[in-house]
Amino acid sequence: MADGSPDETTPEREWVDPPESFVANANVTAADRDAFREAGWPECWRRPADLLDWDRGFDAVLDDSEEGPTRWFPGGRLNAAHNCVDRHVAAGRGDETAVAWEGKLGESRTYTYGELADEVNAFAAALRELGVEAGDVVTLYLPMIPELPVAMLACARIGAPHSVVFAGFSADALATRLSGADSQFLVTCDGYYRRGAALDLKRRADNACVSVDHAVEQVVVNRLDDERAAGDHHVYADLVADHEGATVEPVAREADDLLFLIYTSGTTGEPTLVRHTTGGYLTHVAWTGHAVLDLGPDDTHWCSADVGWITGHSYAVYGPLALGATTVLYEGTPDHPETDRLWEIIERNGVDVFYTAPTSIRAFMKWGEEHPERHDLSSLRLLGTVGEPIDATAWHWYRDHVGDGECPVVDTWWQTETGGIVLSTLPGVDRMRPGAVGKSLPGIETAVVDETGRRVAAGEAGQLVVTRPWPGMARSLCEGSGWGARRTRTVEGEWQYATGDNAVRDEDGYLHLLGRADDVLKVSDRRLSTAEIERAIVGVDGVAEAAVVVGADDDAAHRSEIHAFVSPESNVAGDDALRESVGAAVEEAIGPIAVPDAVTFAPSLPKTRSGKVVRRYLAAIANGEDLGDTSALRNPEVVGELESLLDR
Ligand code: WT7
Repeated sequence: MADGSPDETTPEREWVDPPESFVANANVTAADRDAFREAGWPECWRRPADLLDWDRGFDAVLDDSEEGPTRWFPGGRLNAAHNCVDRHVAAGRGDETAVAWEGKLGESRTYTYGELADEVNAFAAALRELGVEAGDVVTLYLPMIPELPVAMLACARIGAPHSVVFAGFSADALATRLSGADSQFLVTCDGYYRRGAALDLKRRADNACVSVDHAVEQVVVNRLDDERAAGDHHVYADLVADHEGATVEPVAREADDLLFLIYTSGTTGEPTLVRHTTGGYLTHVAWTGHAVLDLGPDDTHWCSADVGWITGHSYAVYGPLALGATTVLYEGTPDHPETDRLWEIIERNGVDVFYTAPTSIRAFMKWGEEHPERHDLSSLRLLGTVGEPIDATAWHWYRDHVGDGECPVVDTWWQTETGGIVLSTLPGVDRMRPGAVGKSLPGIETAVVDETGRRVAAGEAGQLVVTRPWPGMARSLCEGSGWGARRTRTVEGEWQYATGDNAVRDEDGYLHLLGRADDVLKVSDRRLSTAEIERAIVGVDGVAEAAVVVGADDDAAHRSEIHAFVSPESNVAGDDALRESVGAAVEEAIGPIAVPDAVTFAPSLPKTRSGKVVRRYLAAIANGEDLGDTSALRNPEVVGELESLLDR
């Protein structure tokens, strides 16, 4: 807003204005925001949809009739690969960089839009020849290499929804996800480097395929320099070479046909398949990439999230490529070989928009400001954060030492289920409040409500709900009739999507997020399944029950801890051997990222009278917080025992 009014000085009421130079050039101005509001919901979503090329124009913005599912852009047809690749080539931008890849061993590779088009076409032709048809789910189990976005776009081109599985997941986790998605095609690689060491991904993929009931056809990318993995699979490079020069006509998809599936942890803590549509999702990520990340064809954007999570899907692949920007992909870790690796990449690539997670920012702070300061980061003009709350101190550090005290910082709140950003400031329009995410974006309505669904007053905590459909909403939220009548939970009968997050709205209407209210395990910016981890632990010989929660920041790892409370069988000792077995079981079932940082053995776990473990109390114990009234528990005495065990 940059209206010249002074910044407030009380920390929680502080305002920071974007610089005039940013406001003057922003993609979305205050007038645009007003026009959006005047158009009214849902008509306001027409303009974002115009950011895309439609093979057939939609008949309406939204079909919200009482019967049948909610459908965004009904009647519209489009193809995501055409939108992310072909149209930029057709516009004469074939020589501009689409993907700038930075490898783990210091190597780099770029794909122009023209080169991306060639490889996407060739791989799409190969997938077709392997028998992949529109609607078939193709699982992509790949690290951060350019073949991952190529494979995603090749699937999109032929109308085959992809299901990307994070490469850090184990064989068992991959098997669950292959089976759950009924996926008969798998693209993986021979291995990848982690801190200089080569990991054997192919072996994990093979182990997974053995435990899946149906046959799985494999394509293997050679990432390692050693011998090609032998076996009964196709080699990616050979397939692409065989189909060099092929053109595959992009399949025009219905707006609500699936673009991809992605696994996340559902509100009950179980791994859950979330499905995203072609028209609604792509509109949402293109629009928010344009309006919040301020991206366009001249920008070099770096979203540091792994493409294995939703953030990478939306803002490392689909959003920036739909807008014709350059997207930077980095295979490595921020501290290898040196703790200034990221700043070096920003400097060398001239990154102008950088989007990362607070957990990384806390690590940068710990490593010291001398690292960013050694580099020329003057290309940066906008910074973003996502994944967990960022406190005002980290926010200021980020703006001062990475953004030279000038760059606007957008704190963006969203979820796997929302597809794209839901809460944020608009960087060229709104004043920023460090520590708060801002308001809902224009065209999106949210509220903070109590257990009955009634709105609570400013300053009071409650659950964040979204009160009207939005284009990026996952398919399951569209199902049922009349906006999914099943989600109505207020006494007034209002439709509410319960996000599972607690929040407070301040007197200026800005939202402050307080963390999850349900059984979702949010470990820094990662979302893991409590149920999946607990099942692995309970599977260990001698373990009777287990519950996992998020503990306070682990100083060494610069991220929140996974804290497991484990109750051994009565004749079994909770000793180091059992602790090791617990870690090994979780590593095998899910992967190293889910291994508990702390294991507390307990005689029993706090339970309700109906026998449900109350993770909320365990989280409070792990974090040394006050538990309040525990009298509703069946076994309130266990709480005191646990507190004394942890000596907090
Ligand atoms: C959960 C969703 C958002 C895409 C990446 C994670 C937490 C996300 C923020 C933020 C506070 C945030 C919430 C949310 N979260 N962004 N800016 N401030 N909390 O997607 O893995 O589905 O996790 O991440 O708890 O529910 P996800």
